[in-house]
Amino acid sequence: MCTDASALVEAIRSLAVRGAPVLGIAGAYGVALAAARGFDVEEAARALEGARPTAVNLSVGVRRAESAYRAALAETGDPTAAATAALAAARALHREDAEASARMAAHGLALLDELLPGGGHRVLTHCNTGSLVSGGEGTAFAVALAAHREGRLRRLWVDETRPLLQGSRLTAYEAARHGMAYTLLTDNAAGSLFAAGEVDAVLVGADRIAADGSVANKVGSYPLAVLARYHHVPFIVVAPLTTVDPGTPDGASIEVEQRPGFEVTELMAPQVPVTGAGAGIPVAPLGTQAHNPAFDVTPPELVTAIVTERGAVSPVTAEALAELCDGLRRT
Ligand code: MRU
Repeated sequence: MCTDASALVEAIRSLAVRGAPVLGIAGAYGVALAAARGFDVEEAARALEGARPTAVNLSVGVRRAESAYRAALAETGDPTAAATAALAAARALHREDAEASARMAAHGLALLDELLPGGGHRVLTHCNTGSLVSGGEGTAFAVALAAHREGRLRRLWVDETRPLLQGSRLTAYEAARHGMAYTLLTDNAAGSLFAAGEVDAVLVGADRIAADGSVANKVGSYPLAVLARYHHVPFIVVAPLTTVDPGTPDGASIEVEQRPGFEVTELMAPQVPVTGAGAGIPVAPLGTQAHNPAFDVTPPELVTAIVTERGAVSPVTAEALAELCDGLRRT
C-alpha cells in the first residue's frame, strides 16, 4: 500500500506498478495523494514524473492532476478544494483510459479481420498489455481478448519477455484467466515460429510513440518487427493517445531506461528495494557486466499500423499520426 508519493515512486521504480497506461493513472493519483496529505505537490510531481523515463503516460498523468490542482488553487485559494480537483482529474484519466481500451479493442479487431480475412488469428505478443496495465482491459492484449470473445483467436503466442518475464508471469496469467488458447515461448523461439508460418500477426503495446511514428516498447519488440517484416506478417502497435508524444520528434530522441544489471545476471532478483543485487539466483559469474535496456525503439517503416482509440494509422507516417492526434497538446 502506498500512503505517500515517495512510496509510489519506489513502487514504480521496482515495477510493482508498471506498463504505460497504468503508470499515467498511478502518477495522477500520486499527485492527488500528495495534495490530500498536505505534501509539497510540486516536489511530489517531479519525483513521480522522474521515477521512470520512457513511458510518456507517466508525465502525462502527473501533469494532468498537477494542472487541475494548480488551477483550483489559483481559483479558490483552498488547498482542500485543489486536492479534490487533483483527485477528480485522476479519476477522469482512469475512466478515459478504460474507455480508450474498449475502443482500441474494437478498432484493433476490425483491423485484424481486415488484414487476415480467413479468421482464426494466431497472434504473437510481447511483454504484458492487459488489464494489469490499464484502467480497462489493456491495449494489445485487449485486441487479442476481443478476438477470443468473438471466437476468432486460434492461438495467442506469449513471449516470456526476458529479463523480468512480464510475458510468463503476467500475460500468461491474464490469458489463462480468460480461458484463451495460449502458448508460452522463450523470446528466442519466435524466429523459428515465424519461419514455420505459425504467426499471422504481432500485437504489442507502446511506452512512447514519437511524432514520426517511432515506437518505444519493451526490449525485444524491435527484433520482432524485423522478423515480422521478413516474414510478411503485420506488426501492429496498440496504444492510447496518452502514449503519443508530439514533443518527441523521432526515435533517437526517446530516452530508453537502463535497468540494473542484476536483473540479467540473476533470475527473479527481488525488486524491492531495486538495489537488491545478489538476492536472486545467479546465472552468470560474479562480477559479470550486463547490458539491460528496458525498451527498444522500432522505426515507423517496420510498423504496419498504430491502433489508438481514435482508429488506426497505416501506413505509419508523421503526417498521418499528426492528423489522427489533431489538437493533442501537452503542458
Ligand atoms: O517495463 P514495463 O513492464 O513497464 O514495460 C511495459 C511494456 O513495455 C508494455 O508493453 C508497454 O507499457 C505497453 S502496456 C500497454
